[in-house]
Amino acid sequence: MRRSAVRADGAEGFVRSVTVTAEMPYMSAIHPCLDLHIRRYRPADARALFAVFHSAVHVTARHDYRADQLHAWAPKDMDPVAWAEHMERIKPFVAQIGQMPVGYADVQPNGCIDHFFVSGLHARRGIGRALMQAIETEAMRLGIGELWSHVSRTAQPFFEQAGFAVVEQRAPVRRGVVIPNALMRRPMVASTPGDRCTARGGDP
Ligand SMILES: CC(C)(COP(=O)(O)OP(=O)(O)OC[C@H]1O[C@@H](n2cnc3c(N)ncnc32)[C@H](O)[C@@H]1OP(=O)(O)O)[C@@H](O)C(=O)NCCC(=O)NCCS
Repeated sequence: MRRSAVRADGAEGFVRSVTVTAEMPYMSAIHPCLDLHIRRYRPADARALFAVFHSAVHVTARHDYRADQLHAWAPKDMDPVAWAEHMERIKPFVAQIGQMPVGYADVQPNGCIDHFFVSGLHARRGIGRALMQAIETEAMRLGIGELWSHVSRTAQPFFEQAGFAVVEQRAPVRRGVVIPNALMRRPMVASTPGDRCTARGGDP
């Protein structure tokens, strides 16, 4: 049995440890304190993950982007069918407390992390760190040489503490609005450059 563990700080109410059991077909991670559970995406999650995405952008990212940028990034009337299809395509890991999804993040076979979001009501509790651990474990399982993502200004300190470095500043246009971000990369073992990422659902 192969296991890996995540350790965050031990403050009350924070994630203190997460155990990921690699041989399980649907990865599971439970912390007794928060009842934090990390598992694979299910189609029924789509709506709840949109709420997480919307909250992460409009609550957590609001200090780093203007209102028009936030609305272009995460409009509240986003097409639910297109959203569900995108979630089905990227198949993220879902972090839930009890039965409630509070965060999600994916990794694609080319090393691209398309979406990485934690609910604004649950920020800075170690949930992102636990999701990153799930991604790292999956990347090692798939033999991915390098992780990379188009990272928002808000998420850059988080990605930096996870070992990513900024490669280039970007100025993508979403719904007619420029929403700056940065390409960040992190070698896993022997670095092999990933393909271009064509997914762009979470790209600010
Ligand atoms: C980025 C994000 C996923 C991080 O999730 P999180 O659960 O809040 O992160 P964690 O609590 O696991 O943070 C782990 C560490 O990352 C660093 N970190 C996280 N957020 C940070 C911030 N805003 N400023 C500085 N450091 C930060 C800290 O070192 C933190 O450890 P600490 O809390 O013990 O100091 C979350 O803030 C988010 O959803 N942001 C808005 C949406 C977004 O920009 N998503 C990324 C799109 S590419």
